[in-house]
Amino acid sequence: MSHTPFVTAKDPDLAQLLARENARQFYTAKLIPSENYASNAVMEATGSVLCNKYSEGYPRKRYYEGQQFIDPIEELTIDRAKALFGADHANVQPYSGSPANLAAYVALIKKKNENKRILALSLSEGGHLTHGHKVSVTSRFFEAHHYTVDRDTHVLDYDAVRERALEVMPSVIVCGATCYPREIDFARFRAIADEVGAKLLADIAHIAGLVAGGSHPSPVPYADVVTTTTHKTLRGPRGGLILCKQKMARSVDRAVFPGLQGGPHNNTIAALAVALKEAAQPEFQAYAHQIVVNSRALADALLAGGVRVITGGSDNHLVLFDATTLDATGKEAAVAMDIAGLEANANTVPFDPRSPMDPSGVRLGTPALTSRGMGPDEMKLIGEWICQSVRSRSDMPELIRIREQVRDLMAAFPAPGFESGVPARSLLD
Ligand SMILES: Cc1ncc(COP(=O)(O)O)c(C=O)c1O
Repeated sequence: MSHTPFVTAKDPDLAQLLARENARQFYTAKLIPSENYASNAVMEATGSVLCNKYSEGYPRKRYYEGQQFIDPIEELTIDRAKALFGADHANVQPYSGSPANLAAYVALIKKKNENKRILALSLSEGGHLTHGHKVSVTSRFFEAHHYTVDRDTHVLDYDAVRERALEVMPSVIVCGATCYPREIDFARFRAIADEVGAKLLADIAHIAGLVAGGSHPSPVPYADVVTTTTHKTLRGPRGGLILCKQKMARSVDRAVFPGLQGGPHNNTIAALAVALKEAAQPEFQAYAHQIVVNSRALADALLAGGVRVITGGSDNHLVLFDATTLDATGKEAAVAMDIAGLEANANTVPFDPRSPMDPSGVRLGTPALTSRGMGPDEMKLIGEWICQSVRSRSDMPELIRIREQVRDLMAAFPAPGFESGVPARSLLD
């Protein structure tokens, strides 16, 4: 049965691509740490009539009429975000994580003549583009400086971060990462920020679900502003969220609208309300805990296969391994894995001698597979398949043999969002 009967009727070409992507997502081991499976309820709200409504402004202060139900929807979402994360204030309007970060900088560095220096983790050591990388507009509008991880352990060295902060004397210190497998000590970052008179921005895009589920310490008590995406470990719609202390509330709201955005995406806000409700359930705490258990099991399986795992393991949802220890580049490894149905992305390892287009590492994550109910036994199997597929990357029959095993495994673990039926495997042929 088609999941998209109306698209099928109106646009069969697109419907066919959607059906195949649906099957691909179901039968692939989704190991990209920033991806997940949104529930049917989240997707239903995303595709609702809220797509049709403009509501520039904030609840009870709008520029358009007809907000009788939009205002309570946004208020409900705000209340749920505040309650889940224990925050004074929430802005649920950012279109995604990148605009949320830009809004946070604008809110934190308001005055024209203010010091515009930001200090964040460098991209190649795990920071995000929006943390002031040279190709991001964040480095055009702000003066970006970076700290790195320890050269030997590849773990954050807080004494070195402090020294760097004393050198740079930034307005804003950014903590949080897109590729860092260990816990972040937000209290330590706060102390460093206080010492140099900086504000603290915590970007928890990757770990928001772990924070919500109690499996990673929360930055909310320490950071002036916390930004996140809503679609990674949090398992919501694609979107952004900003949490802050009451004293930052007005600056954050003004930075998002009218500073950087127009009409909020009400459909996404409603879907976020659903996701936040899901994340407040006891099952979500168990889910967050299992993500970390699974990451450790996956790291152990790679170590057992003779692979160098960056930092030697994981405390969160993410595992970064050095593909050169399997005699492949990161890109070669990720491509072979993709053929074998193991979806991941090539990534730099700290102080990578290779280029970002073909780095040494592969970044893995367990949020999506954990959403399917998998545990350490499946992680062990998947770890072994990763090693086999990279080692056999020029052996197409072997990669296809692994892929069929991956598909059998996926068929045994139904994913959220697939409640209306399991897609036909033949769609992948
Ligand atoms: C740490 C971090 N911040 C921000 C973002 C940006 O989010 P988006 O892709 O939704 O703009 C990402 C996305 O990968 C991220 O990992």
